[in-house]
Amino acid sequence: MLRHFLKKSVPWFPPTKPELLIAVPASITHVERRAVLQAGKEAGGGTVHVLEEPVLAALGAGLDIDGPSGNMIVDIGGGTTDIAVLSMRQMVTQTSTRVGGDALDDAIVRYVRREYNLIIGEQTAERAKIAVGSAYPGERAEVEVRGRDLVTGMPRSIVLDTWAVHEAMKDPLAIIAQAVRSVLDKTPPELLGDIIDRGIMVTGGGALLDGIDEFIRRETGVAVHIAEDPVSCVALGTKIALERLDAFASA
Ligand SMILES: Nc1ncnc2c1ncn2[C@@H]1O[C@H](COP(=O)(O)OP(=O)(O)OP(=O)(O)O)[C@@H](O)[C@H]1O
Ligand SMILES: [Mg+2]
Repeated sequence: MLRHFLKKSVPWFPPTKPELLIAVPASITHVERRAVLQAGKEAGGGTVHVLEEPVLAALGAGLDIDGPSGNMIVDIGGGTTDIAVLSMRQMVTQTSTRVGGDALDDAIVRYVRREYNLIIGEQTAERAKIAVGSAYPGERAEVEVRGRDLVTGMPRSIVLDTWAVHEAMKDPLAIIAQAVRSVLDKTPPELLGDIIDRGIMVTGGGALLDGIDEFIRRETGVAVHIAEDPVSCVALGTKIALERLDAFASA
């Protein structure tokens, strides 16, 4: 896969092998890190570097992580939510939970099955989440979803509203909130002060969920900011780190 994307981005066969920077999950083990480095080389990379996604997400979100101040990043992706406190370009505390956007979709599928005896697909659930879902409901909206009746096996459609989707997502959202609090609990007090001043930065596609900022603020008591282009933060951060490899390289 790496070779495929490398060919796609560098189709003209450069005279020297390109230098690669690969974003990896924060919770990666040493063995996995070595495997990623090796995969990068086998795919045709010259010097290969890896950097943790929360560091890159923070850079892509425009945070200044060079200094000694503490910054907190919550990256809500599809498969995982990664949470980290960063200072001097490094992670000070972090956690990763396998609860992200996909878990919200799964929870909606289970809720609709339980409450309406209706089987819907994950993509239908994701559409409902994006259309009317909210982590902290304000205005109420409705969406029609289609599925298969659990009893008759026949197609049927129902109307879901913001509150129903919110109810469905409650458990996974609580897990995300708990993970954020656990990282705050582990954070050294001097960095905690910075985070209270600066707020928490949320990135990843899950940052686009309506009300996620107010939800995390209520759960932690800390101000929350949503990155400008949350889905692209890791990619944008990788570009920034590549241009500053002297400061960020860790091959
Ligand atoms: N407008 C939206 N509202 C709610 N959720 C959204 C919205 N747009 C995208 N998402 C969710 O964001 C998730 C994908 O986010 P992202 O692209 O950051 O994930 P990823 O980086 O591929 O995954 P991971 O970081 O776990 O490897 C999906 O679960 C998707 O449903
Ligand atoms: Mg991601």
